Amino acid sequence: MWSANDGGKGYSGFVTDILNEIDISGYDRIYTCGPEIMMARVFEILRDADAHGRAEFSLHRYFKCAIGVCGACCIDPHGLRVCKDGPVFNGELLVDSEFWGYKRGASGV
Ligand code: FES
Repeated sequence: MWSANDGGKGYSGFVTDILNEIDISGYDRIYTCGPEIMMARVFEILRDADAHGRAEFSLHRYFKCAIGVCGACCIDPHGLRVCKDGPVFNGELLVDSEFWGYKRGASGV
């Protein structure tokens, strides 16, 4: 099942709307990529359904070194590096993380 905002193919509307309408128990794996605010809402819906462990999230972070040395792309509090440990993370790893809460900019702040 997939959605497109323009309705050209699949479901017409936001993926978060269809996630609330379908029975996700029939899906072995769920993959999401796109704007982090959307993925964060998908994460909340799946966590509420205890399905976040079957989901993978493709994250975006500012990369400086891109080889796992500088820490610019880390996800707190576990220190997961998007450039080295990801960019795709299982939903279990994002529980109690800063996912969508904040991210570092070019200065590292
Ligand atoms: S960009 Fe430097 S650790 Fe990921």
